[in-house]
Amino acid sequence: MTREVRDVVFVDGVRTPFGKAAGMYARTRADDLVVRCIRELLRRHPSLPAERIDEVAIAAATQTGDQGLTIGRTAALLAGLPASVPGYAIDRMCAGAMTAVTTVAASIAIGAADVAIAGGVEHMGRHPMGEGVDLNPRLLAERLVDQSALVMGATAENLHDRLPAVTRERADAFALASQERTAKAYADGKLQPDLVPVAIRDQAGGWGLATVDEAPRDTSLAALAGLRTPFRPHGRVTAGNAAGLTDGATASLVAAADVAAELGLPAGMRLVSYAFAGVEPEVMGIGPIPSTEQALRRAGLAIEDIERFELNEAFAVQVLAFLDHFGIAEDDPRVNPWGGAIAVGHPLAASGVRLMTQLARQFAEHPQVRYGLTAMCVGIGMGGSVIWENLRWEGTK
Ligand SMILES: CC(C)(COP(=O)(O)OP(=O)(O)OC[C@H]1O[C@@H](n2cnc3c(N)ncnc32)[C@H](O)[C@@H]1OP(=O)(O)O)[C@@H](O)C(=O)NCCC(=O)NCCS
Repeated sequence: MTREVRDVVFVDGVRTPFGKAAGMYARTRADDLVVRCIRELLRRHPSLPAERIDEVAIAAATQTGDQGLTIGRTAALLAGLPASVPGYAIDRMCAGAMTAVTTVAASIAIGAADVAIAGGVEHMGRHPMGEGVDLNPRLLAERLVDQSALVMGATAENLHDRLPAVTRERADAFALASQERTAKAYADGKLQPDLVPVAIRDQAGGWGLATVDEAPRDTSLAALAGLRTPFRPHGRVTAGNAAGLTDGATASLVAAADVAAELGLPAGMRLVSYAFAGVEPEVMGIGPIPSTEQALRRAGLAIEDIERFELNEAFAVQVLAFLDHFGIAEDDPRVNPWGGAIAVGHPLAASGVRLMTQLARQFAEHPQVRYGLTAMCVGIGMGGSVIWENLRWEGTK
């Protein structure tokens, strides 16, 4: 049997507003956040019969409690999908949702599925990083990794050590820009279309509605400069230039290009190539550099061909390392134009789809842009990159 590789498109993505860990979602279940996103995708795309969904892949970095029990399957059932729709759980730490998308995309490309839901969740309030980990003592005893590799903030300090050109001042300036761009994006109504309102309960048991991200804040260079460095005395990484601990979920609709057309689903962008790469765990923040180089190579593209970047801001130092490597200015308007994780937060396994959703909206606004990149660093030393093509591109081929 010969097999044709099919084009895969990103139809749509949504997310819950992101909450501070154990903040507005303290009394909301993680799986309910995912369910909310899946139901919203179905609501937004009534031409998609639920039984045509072939797979539900949901990521979580901690897969226990309300993030356990094969969350892709249980969330599908809870969202009201027919029992015939299968689902599974995915873990690649911070790149969970990104891996959910690339995994279902690969299935779609080879014809094992037509339409899939891919997303992620992390309720870091209920599931603190490293919860329940039983580290194999060989990892440290045999020096396979340094102790600092296990604390993401410490890896960011290590990266500052390796790259003296990335100073605390540059990291703080980048963090301030992230907050300012997010504030402007909110003021201009850019982020709201992605957000699914979530019913929440306060401490007294009263009901409320989460409609916006909880973490963004007004700040200044002076305020940022005054923050302590929790990961190392006299370090450079602070609560201001790192993504905070966050609760939130995302979900996206991914389909074969021909099936999207058959079902009348709007296809905003086509997956061009993707790559995951491993790096030294002690400096996991450089991961997106080799993964992007690999994704570019696989696509036959150069960094100059990329006109929009949605880079996850786990730490300012790690984004600056990426930009310096590729010779991109830190205030380049193509990079995170609507801010990023330093402002809105980074619910680990959920974030990848936030990047893709925002890129898709920017593609829709800018038909002159052809290629965009979503990229992120990953704990224990990895990077993930996906290159997308704008299907509304109006240039000449
Ligand atoms: C950095 C980190 C330890 C900070 O945690 P925290 O101390 O609970 O953070 P807080 O939000 O309470 O902020 C600490 C202080 O900084 C202040 N602050 C935070 N952001 C600020 C900003 N942008 N401007 C000014 N002040 C700010 C807070 O108001 C708080 O002040 P207070 O102590 O007077 O109340 C935590 O966010 C973290 O671990 N982040 C990284 C998460 C991670 O590793 N993700 C995975 C990536 S791979």
